[in-house]
Amino acid sequence: MSTRISATDIRSMKGREKIASLTAYDFPMTRLLDEVGIPLLLVGDSVGMVVLGYPDTTSVTMEEIEHHLRAAARAKPRAMLVGDLPYRSYEDPANALRNAQRLIAAGADGVKAEGGRKILPQVEAITAAGIPFMGHLGMLPQSVREEGGYKVKGKVETEHLALIEDAQALANAGAFAIVLELVTPPVAKELTAAVPIPTIGIGSGPDCDGQILVTHDLLGLFPWFTPRFVKPKLNAAEQMRNVVKEWRDAISKPAA
Ligand code: KIV
Repeated sequence: MSTRISATDIRSMKGREKIASLTAYDFPMTRLLDEVGIPLLLVGDSVGMVVLGYPDTTSVTMEEIEHHLRAAARAKPRAMLVGDLPYRSYEDPANALRNAQRLIAAGADGVKAEGGRKILPQVEAITAAGIPFMGHLGMLPQSVREEGGYKVKGKVETEHLALIEDAQALANAGAFAIVLELVTPPVAKELTAAVPIPTIGIGSGPDCDGQILVTHDLLGLFPWFTPRFVKPKLNAAEQMRNVVKEWRDAISKPAA
């Protein structure tokens, strides 16, 4: 099948096949991941940490996400390309819709934002305009400053119930999938069974409908920090250091 993957295709994978999803912020990575057949690529605001050198995602701007989306979209992937709405870019329905439209104009096929019932009017404005929306529940990186760190969600009953209600509300508002970040595995499993749309887990155990990782974490491209739940499959940073040293040493040898 060579046609573009749509939100409907991703949604219909629930219960049929596991959904593999990765982040991509530029042309070559998007092209490589697409050549492997990854169906769902995210131009995430994690770009702020692993590419732009910010301490967290809260400094990422609309312009930065648009810039990286344009680069990724130039790869013309078959994969569905989702753009992250950055911190404070979806404070009310009008501004959420305007910014979602900007990301679509920059090449996204859909958008993602963090939160559940709190941002429901924003989600409804986006889906009513026909823009595919992906939710993000559990640990919300854009709230790291308010929360004082990256904390696992679902350990206490109030969080457990809130997660299920948020997920159902997002599904009812027309979301096509939900990222579950750092949700306790039993709650992620229950939530996955409770909603008709796919859950894409990150640090939330094996029972989600799919898994997503920051590609730099998977490949060992950002060696200065690796989340606890990631086991890098490549030590790309170390290999790059070694190749660069070999090259430097080779060109530094005095001519015979
Ligand atoms: O920005 C991002 O990369 C994300 C994923 C970690 C889900 O939101």
